[in-house]
Amino acid sequence: MRRCTLPFLFFLANIAFGQQSALDPAGPQAGRIRSLESLLFGISVVIFVGVIGTLAVALFRRRRGIQQEPLESTHRPSAQTERKLLVVVSSLSAVSLLILFALIVVSVVTGREISIKSLPRDSLVVEVTGNQWWWSVRYLDDNTQRIIVTANEIHIPTGRPVVIKGTSHDVIHSFWVPNLHGKRDLIPSRVNTEWIQADRPGRFRGQCAEFCGLQHAHMAFWVIAEPPAQFEAWRRQQLQPAAEPSDPVRLRGQQVFLNNACVLCHTIQGTTAAGQNGPDLTHFGSRQTIAAGTLPNTIGNLGGWITDPQTVKPGNHMPQVPLAPGDEQPLLAYLEGLK
Ligand code: CUA
Repeated sequence: MRRCTLPFLFFLANIAFGQQSALDPAGPQAGRIRSLESLLFGISVVIFVGVIGTLAVALFRRRRGIQQEPLESTHRPSAQTERKLLVVVSSLSAVSLLILFALIVVSVVTGREISIKSLPRDSLVVEVTGNQWWWSVRYLDDNTQRIIVTANEIHIPTGRPVVIKGTSHDVIHSFWVPNLHGKRDLIPSRVNTEWIQADRPGRFRGQCAEFCGLQHAHMAFWVIAEPPAQFEAWRRQQLQPAAEPSDPVRLRGQQVFLNNACVLCHTIQGTTAAGQNGPDLTHFGSRQTIAAGTLPNTIGNLGGWITDPQTVKPGNHMPQVPLAPGDEQPLLAYLEGLK
């Protein structure tokens, strides 16, 4: 199988197994959006059935009575029919206007309910920056020692509001986790804020929702909602510097990483690697996917990605770094060991 078809199959599997769906809300905002959608859909169905039904009845009657009708050019409805038509058309227009006005009111109310102004207290603040084509994620904290930097995976505690401060490093992207909230544009040199909350644990797939270049479709991420105690454990682990390699193979892998161009783009806390152009890899091994949700994080996929990133995700900014023979396996072992 060609390597570039794998990301597509992975994408289809995620959608098919319901990990990305606005119809399955997991939080208050998505719930309100879902209710609005159900209302709009219900009203639309009633109107559609009414219009098509009336059309069908009119066609049926016309066909049945066609022999008795005078020719179109000479046909003039009687004054009584004219009056009847006027009443019917005016009242239907008034009903349409009323329905549209009611829908505007409901939409505005829903918009206010899910806006940042409705934010409850005690929220976690996460800064999300869109990049072509991955997501940088920083957990802000008054204590700078407690700031976490990660990528393409946002862990959140259940039942607690999380403020997303979204911006972009290059072009306009859009932050969208359908199970939790609507879309929010991420615009360079501007911060757009929203808040999300997951009421139940789960993995929710997010997707860039604004066309941002060749790999827009492969700009995904995961929101992992977990009970507060589990989230705190994750946070404590993320605050640690990278795990020191414990065996000779991984130790060699670390040297391969630090002696190659990898360090120009990636940071691994606790080492000299401090590049800022690509995702932070300090706890890379603990993430579930690679290349912004494009493939599951397995040693095989990582090998394919590092050997030839342009086949997996054509046009992305990860260059092919030539490795000396025998260097690849230690490098993979080292990266996967960064839990
Ligand atoms: Cu980023 Cu589309």
